[in-house]
Amino acid sequence: MIRVPNPVSVPSSAGEAFRAAVADRVARGATGDTVLREPSWRLPDALAAALRDSAALPAGAGWRVLRGALGGLPEPGPTPRRWSEADATETAGHDVALALLASVLGRPFGWAHQQAGRLVHNILPSPESATGQVGASSSVPLEWHTEDAFHPERADFLILACVRNPDRVGTRLASVRELGLPAHDVERLQRPALAITPDDSYGEWQNPAAVIGMPTVWHRADGLCVRYDPSYSNPIGDDREFAAAYGELAAGFERCGFEVPLSPGDVVIVDNDVMVHGRVAFSARYDGTDRWLKRILVRSPRQRHPAENAEHGYSQRIIAPDGTET
Ligand SMILES: [Fe+2]
Repeated sequence: MIRVPNPVSVPSSAGEAFRAAVADRVARGATGDTVLREPSWRLPDALAAALRDSAALPAGAGWRVLRGALGGLPEPGPTPRRWSEADATETAGHDVALALLASVLGRPFGWAHQQAGRLVHNILPSPESATGQVGASSSVPLEWHTEDAFHPERADFLILACVRNPDRVGTRLASVRELGLPAHDVERLQRPALAITPDDSYGEWQNPAAVIGMPTVWHRADGLCVRYDPSYSNPIGDDREFAAAYGELAAGFERCGFEVPLSPGDVVIVDNDVMVHGRVAFSARYDGTDRWLKRILVRSPRQRHPAENAEHGYSQRIIAPDGTET
């Protein structure tokens, strides 16, 4: 099912001011990694407030498309074949714009061992990852998942910006709140029956001695939340009731999931606790014209399951906008 969203556009006056601010920061040498380090490069308060009005998810909403929010930026060149080949200068317009936009929703961050700690990630098909369960895959569907489900400090908001998408490859979304899960399944899915590990986009991680079980669903003040990544989940014990409920959850995502078509300049903002996301399979050409998204992760801490406070997160370290690691 393709769901054409009721997109929100940034008001034209704020959009013009935003593009001018991005051009100014780029002209002064900012990149996606550095633009949030320099206080004088921050957005003026009034502009940040206007962008926040457009970008913030309304209460109860798990996603939103900001139509054309990154439109009118300089052409960043051909789609690279690997994230590491993206030129930070050529793509500075998109990277700076996305970092500034994300900053109005919370604190953007990166991971030390994912895409070399960059703040703005490049999501594009790479030949060696074509069949993997990572954003660089193409010939297989990217299965439903919570972004960085393995970690207690995972993003509250996942933000994807479309640089190009000539084949209209769909980004898939599904809300745990639209599945109509019966109470007995919700109870079973709250059991800490799975351990979720880092995905293959993390260059290095060690399996700690302590195996920590993680609940798949929990209740936040505004409704049910989910933590889900079956491709990287290992069962703890043999809880058949949980396994049956987990199967119902997977079937529900397939039944209620939908595709959001993204065009160049569009930005989709996803509540990473309410929605799972994925991508349909597609044929990559590796000729510079493939689908190219930019991704940024944002912490804007809300309530999570209290048991997460004791998790080790597989020792993955966060990179703050000022470059420090924690
Ligand atoms: Fe993802």
